[in-house]
Amino acid sequence: MRRMRRDAFTRDMMRETSLSAANLIWPVFVIEGEKRTMAVDSMPGVERMSIDVLIERAKEAASLGIFAIALFPYIESEKTPYAEEAHNANGLIPRAIKALKAHVPDIGVITDVALDPYTSHGQDGLIDDAGYILNDETVAVLIQQALSHAVAGADFVAPSDMMDGRIGAIREALDESGYFQTKILAYSAKFASNFYGPFRDAVGSATFLGKSSKDTYQLDFGNSDEAMRECALDVAEGADMLMVKPGLPYLDILARVKDEFKMPVAVYQVSGEYAMLRAAAQNGWLNYEKCLMETLIAFRRAGASAILTYGAMDAARLMNEK
Ligand code: PBG
Repeated sequence: MRRMRRDAFTRDMMRETSLSAANLIWPVFVIEGEKRTMAVDSMPGVERMSIDVLIERAKEAASLGIFAIALFPYIESEKTPYAEEAHNANGLIPRAIKALKAHVPDIGVITDVALDPYTSHGQDGLIDDAGYILNDETVAVLIQQALSHAVAGADFVAPSDMMDGRIGAIREALDESGYFQTKILAYSAKFASNFYGPFRDAVGSATFLGKSSKDTYQLDFGNSDEAMRECALDVAEGADMLMVKPGLPYLDILARVKDEFKMPVAVYQVSGEYAMLRAAAQNGWLNYEKCLMETLIAFRRAGASAILTYGAMDAARLMNEK
């Protein structure tokens, strides 16, 4: 075995897995204002940015070969129980989509469909008096939100809320309104994970969520068959691409989804995974760049077509330097 590992050229020749910037989706946090950036303390190297700054960074991403951006809002205006702002046609996200489409047309725009940045209670859906997250009432609002993104020009809407039946309902609404080209990236196997902590800081839902959990709608992290059922439902309801989330602790799920459904599958290297790499690197305990690239190759090896990672720009820069 070692003869073939001795030289770089044979190692490179027989590498089974490839990674290019085209496989990367860069998640970004958008804020109101002009020429504004705002650090996320729990995610070193990540900044929330106003739309004008986003345009400049998106151009840079495209120049590095990244052609997909996932938008997440940081909402500073008042949050409400019914999340009305989530489907405001002139809201932050629709404006960001239009600006990206006008100034960086090559970039594919993916939007998050979920209510947590907009609700006063920090949940992804509407709640009843007992605090239970209502399913069908939430789906009705998600449809409005998805439509507002499609109208603004989103290429993909990506429901991350884990309500039942939302993929089919959104597909039907998009088709009926003439948005039959708008694709759906379904967060199908999304687990109730403890690794979302820094993201909840970044979108500002952590303090509103408090000690409440998302256990009544996101998947139990001990379950694999149940994740396959979620994927099967989303496939039947019309998902164009499935997602597994988080990433590294769920490589088994990723490999199984790819194997069972033979669909394009995305994986989300979530905020906590990114924070772990950064924190260890800050202590001098890990090499951030090398470990980042290793995780991205691992996702590709397990079957991911696309990888959402906060390290997308770093990875693309490294690949361009090579
Ligand atoms: C919620 C949403 C979450 C993420 C993306 N969309 C967090 C959650 O479910 O609480 C997590 C992303 C990350 O941790 O990087 N709609």
